[in-house]
Formats: sequence, structure tokens, C-alpha cells
Amino acid sequence: MSLLDDARDLADTVSRHLQSITTDETLTEYRGDILWKNGDLTKLMKGIKDLSDSEKRTIGKDVNIVKDRIIEAFETRREAIAIASIERSIREEYEDMSIPYPHMRGTHVHPLTRVRREVEDVFVRMGFSVRESDEITTEYANFDAVNIPATHPARDMQDTFWLSDTGYVLATQTSCMQNTILRDTPIPIRTIIPGRVFRNEAVDATHENTFYQVEGIVVDRGIHLGHLKYCLQTMLSEIFQKHIDIRMRPGFFPFVEPGVELDSSCPFCDGKWCRICKHSWWIELVPAGMIHPNVLREWGVDPEIYSGFAFGLGLNRLAMLKYAIDHIRLFMEPDIRFLSQF
Ligand code: DAH
Repeated sequence: MSLLDDARDLADTVSRHLQSITTDETLTEYRGDILWKNGDLTKLMKGIKDLSDSEKRTIGKDVNIVKDRIIEAFETRREAIAIASIERSIREEYEDMSIPYPHMRGTHVHPLTRVRREVEDVFVRMGFSVRESDEITTEYANFDAVNIPATHPARDMQDTFWLSDTGYVLATQTSCMQNTILRDTPIPIRTIIPGRVFRNEAVDATHENTFYQVEGIVVDRGIHLGHLKYCLQTMLSEIFQKHIDIRMRPGFFPFVEPGVELDSSCPFCDGKWCRICKHSWWIELVPAGMIHPNVLREWGVDPEIYSGFAFGLGLNRLAMLKYAIDHIRLFMEPDIRFLSQF
């Protein structure tokens, strides 16, 4: 038999045997048996040097082609083994992530977030836009622009964190956004501004140094207290999922005239008695009023043409009422026993 026939026979044997090889290790081993220094093919190719020069050009060349075919057959097999191994692990290591873990506890949104979203949802349905309040603001926006000049005693009501001599403060009220809203929004304005506010308060059951408010601002021609009453009555009835009556008493806030304390009928006792409304049927809930002409004028809105209302809903208080939470501090504490109830 000629050298070339031997090489072709070897190629056939190799390609048949490769089909039975299924692991990388045995493949490498077999490759050694054929292609390494003492391998069958290497030995066979040594015969090329004994051929005549013309045979070297013809037979030698063909034997090299057979050699390339054998090498290629090994590569093809190596790839097939790799693919089979990936397919096997996909099949065998598959885990069904949709099967519920038996001890998994649900995730929760924080009660404040929950109430904020509910409030936003009602107002958005009434055509309001939502804009987040600044947490760091200027002394001007927080006080001067809302009719509380430096000498005004109302500044003392909100014990302020000043950012030393920068002109900036931690917002003490979401009313700090009134000026920005008037500046940025074309009339008619219907916006609510939820945000986090800060005051240097001693903490007790109902006071925290960090709490949440939702400011509301409406400006257009002919806006009056009836619009304020309607909007807040609708919102509260939705939050408490029952009809709520509204009462308004005079209240003082420098940025509104007239200012009102808006009381909600007690959502818990239907006018009988309960600890929450303290026998009175009414719960003081939202300070509000008609936007003061000075505040409108500060951004060039003519109070002879336009009027508006504003309110400053305390979100913590609303959440405390809705979920019967008796201590404001619980909102800021990472107590899982409290948080997991929502
Ligand atoms: N900014 C006031 C505060 O934090 C609350 C407030 C009262 C907001 C009356 C208003 C308003 O918009 O009209 O005490």
C-alpha cells in the first residue's frame, strides 16, 4: 500500500473513532495518539522523506492535505463537544424562577410613599401636575418670596436649619416652591408639590425634625375658596374611602389671605365619639388659603386679574390617621415589625 493510501485509511479510522468521543479529556488524549511526536500520523509522515523528489511533490502534497483534514476533524469534534456540554448544562441546571419561594415575604412600600402616591393619584385625576419640592432652597424662596420678610415673627414658627452664611436653608415648608411654580408655570396653574421638609424640632409623638408635606397651588381667573373646598373634600373622601365633610376656620399664614384651617369630618366614628377626633367630630387637617396678593405680585402675576388657592397638607399626619399610627417617629425608624404591616 502506498503512503497516501495509509494516510487516507488513517483519516477514515480517525473520523469514525472521533464520533465515539464525548469528553474533552479523551479527545485530547486521542489527538496525542495521532498527531503528537510519536503519533500514528507523525510516524507515517516520516515516510515522506524516503520518497523521490517528484513523489514528494505529488504524494507528499496529498498526504499533507489528508493531515489538514484530520486536524480539522479534531477541531470540529472539539466544538461539537463544547456545544453539547453547554446544551447539557442548560437542560440540567435549569431552575424555574417562577416557583414561589415558600418563606418569601412580600415587599412593601413605605406607608408615607403609599399615601403620597394615593394623594398624587387623586390630584392627577383632577388635572393637576406633580412637581417635587426642593430639599435645599434659598432663604428668599423659603421666606421672603412667600411674604415672610426677615423681620416677620412668622420666621420664628419654623425653627430653621441654616446652611451657614450661604443664603441657603433646608426647606422648612413646601410653600418654598410657590414662587418657583409661579415663575415657571404658565397660568392656569394646577400643581401639587410633594416634598421632604426639615425643622429643628424636639421630637415627640407628633413632631419630627424631618417630615413630608404636599403643597397645592391653583391659579387662574375667578378661583375662590369653593374650589379649594371641593378639591380637598374630593381628595380626602378618596383617601378615606368614604364621604368626608369639610369645615373651614380662619387661620393665619403670611402667604395666604384669607388663611384657613381646613377640618375634615372624623373618618372613624361617624360623629359619635372617638379618641382620634376627641369627641369633636372634626379633625384639623389641612392649612390653606387664598394666595396673598404680595406672593402673586412677586412674580408679576396681577392679583386684580388672577386669584389662586394654596394648601400645605401634612403627609405624616394623613398617614398616621389613615393607618392609626400613634407615633410619628415610627416613619423614620427602620423597624421591620412596623414596616411589614403595610
Ligand atoms: N407652609 C405651611 C407650614 O408648613 C403650611 C401651609 C399653610 C401651606 C397654608 C399653605 C397654606 O399653602 O396656604 O406650616
